[in-house]
This record gives sequence, C-alpha cells and structure tokens, in this order.
Amino acid sequence: MEKILIVGPASQILGIRIAQELNINYFNTESKTFPDGENYLRINLDNESLIEGKEIIIVQSTGPSSSGNQNARLIELLMMIDAVKRMGAEKIVVVIPYLAYARQDKIFRPGECKFANLVLCLIDSMRVDELYVVDVHAPKILEEVQCKWINIDSMKILADYIKSLDVKEIVVVAPDKGAVERSKAFAKHFGEDVPVDYFEKVRDVKTGEITMSGKLSLKNKDVVVSDDIIATGGTMAKAIKLSKESGANRVFAVATHALLLENAKFRIIKAGADEIIGTDSIDNEASKVSLAKAIVDYLK
Ligand code: R5P
Repeated sequence: MEKILIVGPASQILGIRIAQELNINYFNTESKTFPDGENYLRINLDNESLIEGKEIIIVQSTGPSSSGNQNARLIELLMMIDAVKRMGAEKIVVVIPYLAYARQDKIFRPGECKFANLVLCLIDSMRVDELYVVDVHAPKILEEVQCKWINIDSMKILADYIKSLDVKEIVVVAPDKGAVERSKAFAKHFGEDVPVDYFEKVRDVKTGEITMSGKLSLKNKDVVVSDDIIATGGTMAKAIKLSKESGANRVFAVATHALLLENAKFRIIKAGADEIIGTDSIDNEASKVSLAKAIVDYLK
C-alpha cells in the first residue's frame, strides 16, 4: 500500500526527515487560531483522492512552543486524524514524538484526574491503526491502548551523540531515584561498567517546588545527567550544580524531550552544564539528535 506522510505543524523538520528517509510523498498543513480561540487546520492538498486507500502517517509532537501550546497541538492532531479518515485513508499511523500530559499519569492530590490516560484514550478512540511515541514519561499508561503501539527508545542515539564529544570516564547521574532504572539502561550504551548514581529529589506536590541533595564521587569524571524531560530546567540545574560540587569535570544535560521552558537554558548553563542535548521531538536549539532514523526503523 502506498504511504503518504502528513507533516504536522509541530514537527515540521522531523516530519520531513522521516518522509525523506522513507522516500515517500508528504504534505504539510495550514493551521491558524480563529479570533475566538478555536483552532483551524487543513491538510495542504488540492485533491482529496490522493489520501483515499493509502497508508497515512501523521507526525505531530504535542509539546508547547511559541507557535502553539500543547492543547492546540493535541487539537491539531485530532483534526489531522479526522481529516484523513474522512478522505478515505486505508490505514492511519500516528507518530507523537512528545506526548503532552504524560506526567499527569497518577493521582498526586485528591480530586485530580489522570489526564495522560485520557489523551491516549481519545487518540485510540479515533480508531487509528498504529501509535508511535518516544520515551513516554510513564510507559505503563500505554497498556490501556487498544491499537498497536510502540514506545521508541531514544537512548542509543543520544548516547552515540555524547560519545562523539570525546567524553572520558563517564558517570551517568539520574536527578532522582525514579530515573535510576532509565539511567542504568542509558549507561549500558556507553559500556558495560559505566557507573550510575543519583541525587535525592523531593517535589512539593502543592507548589511543585523541588529540593535536591547528595554528594557523589564524581571527581574528574565526565558526567551525563539524564532525564526524560527538561521542562523549566529546575531539576536538571539542581543536579548539575550538585554534580559540579561533587567534583565533576564536564557535565552534559541530556533529555529526550528538552522543552526548555521559561529560563531553563540560563539555569542549566549557569549551574555548570557544558551542553544541553535533546532530540527533535521538540524543535528547538537543543534538538541535536534526530529521531528520524529510529522512528523509520519501526515504520518500515
Ligand atoms: C519528572 O519526573 C520528570 O522526569 C522531569 O524530571 C521533570 O519533568 C523536569 O521538570 P523541570 O525541568 O521543570 O524540573
């Protein structure tokens, strides 16, 4: 079946990269916000029959950016799915490099909802055939999804990039205990015996404020602080500061999804990071590693 890719407004570079790797035709979209705040989206084609009977791959990240917040990104995604369904797509494959709301996967305080699950449920309810996400914050939420799904692992390609920086005596540091398992898996890409350590992080569930403590044996080590998401950079900056205080030589701030909100870049670099490294799940200056090949490996 012929494949066609729809490049969503939030994944313009990654979408084209994937289409080029797959060597398939692609269309972008036209999107805007109406004066009343409602979103508008159309797939930028003149002939709707081009979609009929085809396998349609939609690539749309749902992270916040200056041109759209995550709510708008989700609505645009639903609009793209609906549009290709209406035009007679035979198979619909959805690629969401960054899944918005994924951190709202538990009840932290009475009265909350698990919106992460609802986001997936909404997409699933549109009867898409396949769903691809990347390093989802809590992969367990995917277990409720009915369609075929894959949570793509970006650790190898992030590690390959870091290895190209001529790092020596690496230690992988997790910013909290919860990230240790992920960091252990990440460390394996640098070699069997690469040590993993972590700081103690406590987040106030009401204010969101974090405190972090710990002293590690990092003297003259090149440290890779790894997390799934950098949002405001508070977690990363604290882990980097403590790494430096623990004697680290170079320190790299690495995350699959480097949202870099507010003054995150300033905080992280001021704390002592040599470089901030993310993937193109979020299209910004930290997206030094492209997910295109890793995603294409699954789409093929
Ligand atoms: C939390 O569990 C996540 O893995 C990240 O550590 C967190 O989302 C980072 O947020 P921020 O950059 O705002 O500290």
